[in-house]
Amino acid sequence: MQKEMDWAGGGRWRCQYFSVTGKTLVLFFLLWVQNSLSTANRFIFHGFDGSGLRLNGGGTIEPNGLLRLTNFTKYEFGHAFFPSPLPFLNSSTGEALSFSTSFVFAIVPRYHDISSHGIAFAITPTANLTGVLPSQHLGLFNHTNNGDPRNHILAVELDTIQNKEFSDINDNHVGIDVNGLRSVSSAPTSFFLNSPNFQHENLSLISGQPMRVWVEFDGKSMKLNVTIAPLSVPKPQIPLLSSKINLSSIVLGEMYAGFSASTGAAAGLHYILGWSFSMDGSAEELKLSNLPSLPPKEAEENSGKKTKIWVIVLPIAISVFLLISASGFALLMKTKKMFEEVVEDWETEYGPHRISHDSRQGMKEFVAEIASIGRLRHRNLVQLLGYCRRRGELLLIYDFMPNGSLDNYIFCRKEESLSWSLRFKVIRGIAAGLLYLHEEWEQVVVHRDIKASNVLLDAEFNGKLGDFGLARLYDRGSNPQTTRVVGTLGYLAPELSRTGKSTTRSDVFGFGAFLLEVASGKKPIELKTSGIEMVLVDWVFDFLKKGAILEARDRKLGDEYAADEVEMVLKLGLMCSQHSPEARPSMRQVLQCLEGEAPLPEMSVNDFDLLDSSHRMNRFVVVDGTSSNSGTVPAYPSSSSSSESQSFKRP
Ligand SMILES: *[C@@H]1O[C@H](CO)[C@@H](O)[C@H](O)[C@H]1NC(C)=O
Ligand SMILES: *[C@@H]1O[C@H](CO)[C@@H](O)[C@H](O)[C@H]1NC(C)=O
Ligand SMILES: *[C@@H]1O[C@H](CO)[C@@H](O)[C@H](O)[C@H]1NC(C)=O
Ligand SMILES: *[C@@H]1O[C@H](CO)[C@@H](O)[C@H](O)[C@H]1NC(C)=O
Repeated sequence: MQKEMDWAGGGRWRCQYFSVTGKTLVLFFLLWVQNSLSTANRFIFHGFDGSGLRLNGGGTIEPNGLLRLTNFTKYEFGHAFFPSPLPFLNSSTGEALSFSTSFVFAIVPRYHDISSHGIAFAITPTANLTGVLPSQHLGLFNHTNNGDPRNHILAVELDTIQNKEFSDINDNHVGIDVNGLRSVSSAPTSFFLNSPNFQHENLSLISGQPMRVWVEFDGKSMKLNVTIAPLSVPKPQIPLLSSKINLSSIVLGEMYAGFSASTGAAAGLHYILGWSFSMDGSAEELKLSNLPSLPPKEAEENSGKKTKIWVIVLPIAISVFLLISASGFALLMKTKKMFEEVVEDWETEYGPHRISHDSRQGMKEFVAEIASIGRLRHRNLVQLLGYCRRRGELLLIYDFMPNGSLDNYIFCRKEESLSWSLRFKVIRGIAAGLLYLHEEWEQVVVHRDIKASNVLLDAEFNGKLGDFGLARLYDRGSNPQTTRVVGTLGYLAPELSRTGKSTTRSDVFGFGAFLLEVASGKKPIELKTSGIEMVLVDWVFDFLKKGAILEARDRKLGDEYAADEVEMVLKLGLMCSQHSPEARPSMRQVLQCLEGEAPLPEMSVNDFDLLDSSHRMNRFVVVDGTSSNSGTVPAYPSSSSSSESQSFKRP
């Protein structure tokens, strides 16, 4: 009996197995039919499983058949081309043949307000484009061959960035590109409804939603039409772009058709869900219900599937959470045992910050200071969350900044450097943070160490000033007879060597050095191979004297920068770097200029109060006594503790 039941169970199982295999066979047959159809210069793909597309760069086909051209990597491009070449010319007459294609794509930016670059449908002489660049070149061209008629490339760009160098109309447009990125015709991304009165509607390329595009060329009339629409509407009768183009000199007898997408300073995902193509005659309409769906996070708005996803995700999330909590608790117990800390009575006065024993002389004051720093709150300051102290060690706990510090994006290779618009956003943010420290909090706080490496970037590339108040903490451990001028050489205001006292105006000096380094991509003092130090202020000022201040800009920006902003930042940098503290603007004035609320003060070259480099060098030698390029610099001995104050009451 027992055996029979086992046998019966096994039989049922086997039976199911066979029916699945049957379906799979049918599927294979359909794929085979689909693949063989595609040899006839017509093909249609709902998902790209088994499509045999030629992939390059970041291009991959995901398990559900989605074609993903890029991943969350910066400065990446991806290609996907139909595997065999297609005849775009009538071999006897030499005229370009008609073709028609339709595809569904989606661009999912990593951060919703920062766009990565776009996607292009392209017809190219090879499926293996080499030497091409990501970012604004869309993975199709580079600096040298852009615009060259020998490229033989026709592309329809879905462009999400406005590049002034290519005269782009805005940061959300559709364009027809012939051999280069300066479009022969373009329009803001939009479509015309078919009824009732052909209403014009805008679309956002970076909405993360799938959209459909039609590209149709009629060989007789030489009309190239491009149409785009959301999936919810049928094909618009009025195309968005309609251009007369003589393709016969552009296309060759055999060309590859496919897609290219690229990312720049910001990452994003570029997907193609389906593609239909036909030489001569119109491409078959895609069946939207047969398309693979986008990954859940991006697709969550079109969700009858939402609940289904939660059924799977929720139990996993709960178990992961429990697991993490349990191990976290175990770790906590272990750590607690290991560190056996004691909370001192006086420490509880300062709120919920973490503490230990080993109290030393001065520690009480020190904690008071940390507690007050912890109360500083501004969106452009890195939040100090708390601290741990154990014997001689001190850990300060800050908000996590996923993109690290700004210097990594300024003093780096071209491909990794930050775009001008992001640099300008960071500059304005840091100016606002510093103004808060100087004027908007209950006490005046002097930062004392402003520089690119102390500027941290959050997930959305907002700049946040970090490390404030640390200078003061270092002082504690040093000889009480000596006040140390703290900061970094090159960012230190000249008066510090005389007075040893940091002020808001000495911070402005540091901010000036910061402005110059962000706009020029150079450090305030650079040691040349010749052994000569290059002082950035002098170098920039020399360009100002020649009336060519823009020449001081960071060459890594290429042509993608706003000249008026770069010029303003460089000039402000020089104004902040002036010798006499009174001559420097306040942070409020600086921010007003940056935000366009006040014009930049008119200054002629002779008005600038800048030291010449020989004086500057002598001064460093006097202050430092060594040739070290950074670090803390001992200044004049002083027994007055008030002169080292990092924060002081408003008068
Ligand atoms: C992105 O693509 C690159 C190159 O194809 C690959 O090495 C990397 O692992 C991918 N990263 C992710 C997160 O998929
Ligand atoms: C630019 O692209 C072309 C064509 O792909 C390639 O032959 C050339 O070497 C590239 N130039 C550079 C400087 O990479
Ligand atoms: C559509 O976009 C264009 C250009 O981006 C803009 O001028 C226009 O006002 C927008 N129209 C609507 C209805 O939002
Ligand atoms: C199109 O270009 C080809 C090749 O340059 C030329 O022979 C032909 O006359 C052009 N046709 C028209 C209508 O201009």
